[in-house]
Amino acid sequence: MATNRTFTMIKPDAVENGHIGAILEKITAAGFKIVAMKFTQLSTRDAEEFYAIHKERPFFGELVEFMTRGPIVAAILEKENAVEDFRTLIGATNPAEAAEGTIRKLYATSIGENAVHGSDSDENAAIEGAFHFSGREIF
Ligand code: TYD
Repeated sequence: MATNRTFTMIKPDAVENGHIGAILEKITAAGFKIVAMKFTQLSTRDAEEFYAIHKERPFFGELVEFMTRGPIVAAILEKENAVEDFRTLIGATNPAEAAEGTIRKLYATSIGENAVHGSDSDENAAIEGAFHFSGREIF
């Protein structure tokens, strides 16, 4: 069953480059409502757990290193068809392949440092949201 929520992170590269405000503006202008949000930093253990599905991939070490190097903004977003519409808004994993106007096209620098995360399924959106937020932090 499709749900109306997705989970996102503004990644360390976009925070370092001063893009938090612009990215949140794109997200809300696209019709997403922020129902949970925090400024936080992942520990190595957090990042390894969050990206456990990629642990055998050659980029895993770099991904963990990158995702832990500075603060992130984590948020749960609400909108009809949230997961799919948010993936469209952020664009392809590799910014070189991302459509014009997408968040990754505008703000990402490389496939590894690609500015934002967006859940890839309703099931993962629920798991990832619960990873970062307790029930009373979600509105
Ligand atoms: P993935 O889940 O495939 O992409 P997405 O974030 O678009 O759902 O990969 C997770 C992250 O891993 C991706 O955002 C950046 C990193 N990554 C690399 O560094 N190199 C790669 O070749 C791939 C596929 C991903």
